[in-house]
Amino acid sequence: MEALIVALPGDGIGPEVTAEGVRALRAVERLGGHRFQIVEALIGGAAIDATGEALPEATRSACSGADAVLLGAVGGPKWSDPSASVRPEQGLLDLRAALGVYANLRPVVTHPALYDASPLRPERLAGVDIMVVRELTGGIYFGKKERGPDFATDVCTYQRGEIERVLRMAGELARQRRRRVVSVDKANVLETSRLWRSTATTLFTSEFPDIELEHLLVDAAAMHLLSRPADFDVMVTENMFGDILTDEASMLVGSLGMLPSAALNQERRGLYEPIHGSAPDIAGRGIANPCGTILSAALLLRHSLGLEDLAVVLEQAVFAAVSAGHRTGDIGGGATALGTRAMADAILAELPAG
Ligand code: IPM
Ligand code: MG
Repeated sequence: MEALIVALPGDGIGPEVTAEGVRALRAVERLGGHRFQIVEALIGGAAIDATGEALPEATRSACSGADAVLLGAVGGPKWSDPSASVRPEQGLLDLRAALGVYANLRPVVTHPALYDASPLRPERLAGVDIMVVRELTGGIYFGKKERGPDFATDVCTYQRGEIERVLRMAGELARQRRRRVVSVDKANVLETSRLWRSTATTLFTSEFPDIELEHLLVDAAAMHLLSRPADFDVMVTENMFGDILTDEASMLVGSLGMLPSAALNQERRGLYEPIHGSAPDIAGRGIANPCGTILSAALLLRHSLGLEDLAVVLEQAVFAAVSAGHRTGDIGGGATALGTRAMADAILAELPAG
């Protein structure tokens, strides 16, 4: 097959990890006899510096015309001045909205080789395999914002249709898994959550009677994620709760640097990014963990290109390298920690010979 992929390195460690994601795509391209055309474009602070805009029109149109987008990270202290009229993060939010990628899949799978990188005890980590589905184009991220000298407002709004489509994605994913969905909300306080909860009950009763649906309040969910993580199968939630819970869940795997994500729209074209941020503290030092981005490239192969075999091959290469003891600093590399490039080399060396 031929596919057009846009790579958006962005800011901080974004360019370092994106380069390795692209290299991984090139490596599997050779394996499978496919042709990927990969073009780079600007987003975030890098785009602000070059064009004054966080999502330049050229980037928006390149992404709209692509089969998939692989993004590094956006943001950094250089562009964080509260009085700045444009912020890097807005470029990412605008891109998510422009592509209509409402369903953000964030798989959280623990691996025995990494148990020692997690602050939790190994017996809690065994068998953890959670698919978090985060609503990505609605809620408080996209509501009206206002700011006065002594007040500020962020409005959280959801339409029933926005809730239904992401719940449907969760239900469909659960059918390919262990058939259990936990819907997370704050229905004891928030009106949007009460709409979310009743929509979930109605939708699962009519469309997914074969799936077990449970509701959890977000504060309790945060606790249960640590006390009984192996009980979860699919967890679906609104935008901001999903942002927070997945950073928490990354500690089950061992590091924020390990977690990939896929943001999908109705056509399953998608935006793929590690869930970590731009990590300005380690940017430019070549020590960032490339696993989250390489695993995001695997999700890209699976969900947007339909190349399941190659996705699995790439995922297996990551875990083979980790199992063989190759580590960046964030996953316990210690004094012999590998840098970004060396870690990616170790992963690519695990791929079958083309
Ligand atoms: C994420 C990030 C983004 C988000 C930021 C950079 C806007 O934290 O993808 O999880 O909050 O969605
Ligand atoms: Mg986040």
